[in-house]
This record gives sequence, structure tokens and C-alpha cells, in this order.
Amino acid sequence: MLKLGVLISGRGTNLQSLIESCQRADFPAEIVTVISNRPDALGLERARHHGLKAVALDHKAFKSREAFERAMDGELKSAGVELVCNAGFMRILTDWFVDEWMDRQINIHPSLLPAFRGIHVHERVLEAGVRLTGCTVHYVRAEMDAGPIIAQAAVPVLPGDKPEDLEVRVLQSEHRLYPLAVRLIAEGKVRVENERVVFTDAPAPGTPLFSPGLA
Ligand code: GRF
Repeated sequence: MLKLGVLISGRGTNLQSLIESCQRADFPAEIVTVISNRPDALGLERARHHGLKAVALDHKAFKSREAFERAMDGELKSAGVELVCNAGFMRILTDWFVDEWMDRQINIHPSLLPAFRGIHVHERVLEAGVRLTGCTVHYVRAEMDAGPIIAQAAVPVLPGDKPEDLEVRVLQSEHRLYPLAVRLIAEGKVRVENERVVFTDAPAPGTPLFSPGLA
């Protein structure tokens, strides 16, 4: 069982999908701690509700970013975490923390990276007029929303979509993609070579998604 530490800042629907995956008998990972930099994060409640260790580390209570990260690092290590899963964690990380967890920390982002890094993704997707968007799970690097890509799901942009509609549609895919990526890592099928992910024995991709569909 791969031991996961999940970092959150908010509502925690991706955390919820990881919790539910970890409850399945055949899932090769378990959550050993959930840490939020915001004490009021709904995700902490979700964790407690499922009997998981839920730790609030209010970044405002620390005198520096480094001090906050040292505390987070200490909590992750004392819980025996082997893979850090950022799930809506909204703090920029220092090079020190990124190096400390190099190739042992992943993130989920609601776009097909490297397009649309950063925030307000769905607004910018609509503004750009792309027909496909999606979500990405990647290893964390010092640069925000960058790093070797593990898995992606494509989601259509539909006529009349508002940012909220896209958010809901992309989130549904996030909830399936994050557990898939964690499973592949836990099964030892993922390695990083020259800053790209290489698989051994990963499931074949699905068929291409056309948007609009083929007539
Ligand atoms: C998700 O869209 C995730 O991709 C992004 O932040 C959002 C977190 O949502 N990094 P939730 O807290 O998991 O519901």
C-alpha cells in the first residue's frame, strides 16, 4: 500500500474521490494524512468524517513560507507519507520543498497542460475558443503547473458553456483521473526519465475525442 499525504486548501472534491478509491479493496494506496493551509477548508471535514488524520497548518501563523513548509514536511514524514498529492492546494512551494519531495509529489490541474496554467482556467479556455479542454496530473516542479505529465483527460467545450459548466464537467473527469494516476504510481508503472514520464504496462488510451463529433 502506497502511503499518501493529501494537501488541500478548500472544498476537497478531489480528496473525496481519492478517499473513495482508497476504500476499495483492490486500490493499492491509502491516505495517512490530510493537511490544509486553511483551517476552515471543507476538505478537512471530509477527511475527519472518514476517520482520517486531518491537520490544519494555517500558513498565516508561520513567520515565513519556509517555516510553514518545514512544519508540513515534518507532518508528512512523521505520518510515513510516500507520495504527496496536491488536490486544490493553493500555496506556491519553495524550491526546497519541491526538491525534498522530487518525483514523490503530484498535482492535478483543470486544463490540458501546458495550456492554461494558473488560475481562472475555465474563463480563459472559453475566451480562447478551444473545443477541447480537460485535466492533467503531473509531477510537481518549482515552476507552477509544470512538470512531467502522468495522465490527461480531454473534455469537450460545449456551445453556451459558462465557466461554471466547464468547471463541473472537468471536475467529473478530475475525479476519475487522479485515482487512475495514483494507481499507476502505486503499481510501480510510472517513472520519470529526462523530465518525461515513461510507463511500464499502462492501460492503452481511449479512442480520440472529436469536438464537434464526427457526423
Ligand atoms: C480542482 O479543479 C483542481 O484541479 C485544482 O483545484 C481544484 C480543487 O477542487 N487544482 P477540489 O478542492 O478538489 O474540489
